[in-house]
Amino acid sequence: MLKTLLRVKPIEPTAHVDAGEPIEGSLQGEATLKRTLTAKHLIMLGIGAVIGAGIFVLTGQAAANHAGPAVMLSFVIAGFACALAGLCYAEFAAMMPVSGSAYSYSYATLGEGMAWFIGWCLVLEYLFASASVAVGWSAYLISFITTTLHVPFPDALSAAPIAWTGDAFVNSGKLFNLPAVLIVAAITGLLYVGVTQSTFVNAVIVAIKITVICLFVGFGIHYIDPANWHPFIPENTGTFGQFGWSGVFRAATIVFFAYIGFDAVSTAAGETKDPQKNMPIGLLGSLAVCTLVYIVVCAVLTGMLPYNLLGTDKPVATALEPYANLAWLKTAVEIGAIAGLSSVVLVMMMGQSRIAYTISRDGLLPKAFGKVHPRFRTPYVSTVVVGVLAAALAGLVPLNVLGELVSMGTLLAFATVCIGVLVLRYTKPDLPRPFKVPVVWLICPLGAVACLALFMQAFVVHWHLFVAWTVLGLCIYFGYGIRHSKLNKSA
Ligand code: ALA
Repeated sequence: MLKTLLRVKPIEPTAHVDAGEPIEGSLQGEATLKRTLTAKHLIMLGIGAVIGAGIFVLTGQAAANHAGPAVMLSFVIAGFACALAGLCYAEFAAMMPVSGSAYSYSYATLGEGMAWFIGWCLVLEYLFASASVAVGWSAYLISFITTTLHVPFPDALSAAPIAWTGDAFVNSGKLFNLPAVLIVAAITGLLYVGVTQSTFVNAVIVAIKITVICLFVGFGIHYIDPANWHPFIPENTGTFGQFGWSGVFRAATIVFFAYIGFDAVSTAAGETKDPQKNMPIGLLGSLAVCTLVYIVVCAVLTGMLPYNLLGTDKPVATALEPYANLAWLKTAVEIGAIAGLSSVVLVMMMGQSRIAYTISRDGLLPKAFGKVHPRFRTPYVSTVVVGVLAAALAGLVPLNVLGELVSMGTLLAFATVCIGVLVLRYTKPDLPRPFKVPVVWLICPLGAVACLALFMQAFVVHWHLFVAWTVLGLCIYFGYGIRHSKLNKSA
């Protein structure tokens, strides 16, 4: 049994691949994913997946309740942990340009059992994040329709039928979250018809959200009162995590959510031209742009309004409320947030369907998930299944309780990738590596420890949910995957 769990999928050094050239599996006339994406597309995908609810929703609460103006430092800390993991992702993604991301990297280094577990964690990251951001999107849209456009919206269709009060589920009196279901359905349709169309729509949305952020910074900067930055780190209240340095770190675990998604770039490796060069640029480039954007936005936000007034669900719009002459900008920010959150849903769902496709190609999920549409060249079965599950979650489940699960799944995947790079440097030192993590003996362990430390903070609170999720995954693996694994058949 141990031997089965530890079996690894052999990696062959990939030939230099280019547009339209297939690299995965034995092809035998089957349709494969199409290599059309360039470094520019990848950076856009990264920004599309990353800038969303984290900055437009969570920053305010992190500043108001935990870090004050020093939320800027919290973004630097979370960004540092992500940069370490990002370097490791870049090494793997350039060496193994396949669609499975951390799942594929674990399969090549730590064995099938670990690979399945990480693949299962990635479902938490991608599927649940896309559903929870769809719910955030719905809240922004309804608020925009009702308060800015003054058009009524049926209350029964605005939220899930159950709500989580903190310790129990209660009837919310609503039917389901209609806007959340509609955005997931629209994006599923887009992903079904093609990766080129999807990345084009993503690029348009990214342009809108970056423009809005630039406008916010460009105009907001004139309304900064430096007195709002003092004290930069408000004194701790006596409770761990409420201001002081402990608050800065606590806020870092909250705003970590804002960085989730840069790794989604690696799931597009199977559809990227010259991935050896473009993958590291896409991963590290999008991370660098987003970190810069976050720090600048936080500086303007906390400079415009005292931090204790920012704890709302839409802090960027809240910071503009006192200025009547900037009402147009507040409307633009709301539109930018609605656009911005939809691209997060798009890239997350795209990532989830590519991971399911890859797992199925390895035999650990039913074959249908690996089918590629003969005309659109997209993994259409995975796309539809992911769409249906995400729509059901977004429409029917109160997702606030699952937010921590998203971060836990992501952090474990990040830690595993850091460990995997080290393992492979030791087991296969001669494999061609187009991109190499610098000072690998320092960066990889530091990355793994940073991610595991953040994971543990959430695990002590939500361990029962995480264990239940893991048990469900193990049932699927032992009930199906272990017997149908391609490695099993060739044994
Ligand atoms: N990073 C993504 C967001 O902030 C998940 O919405």
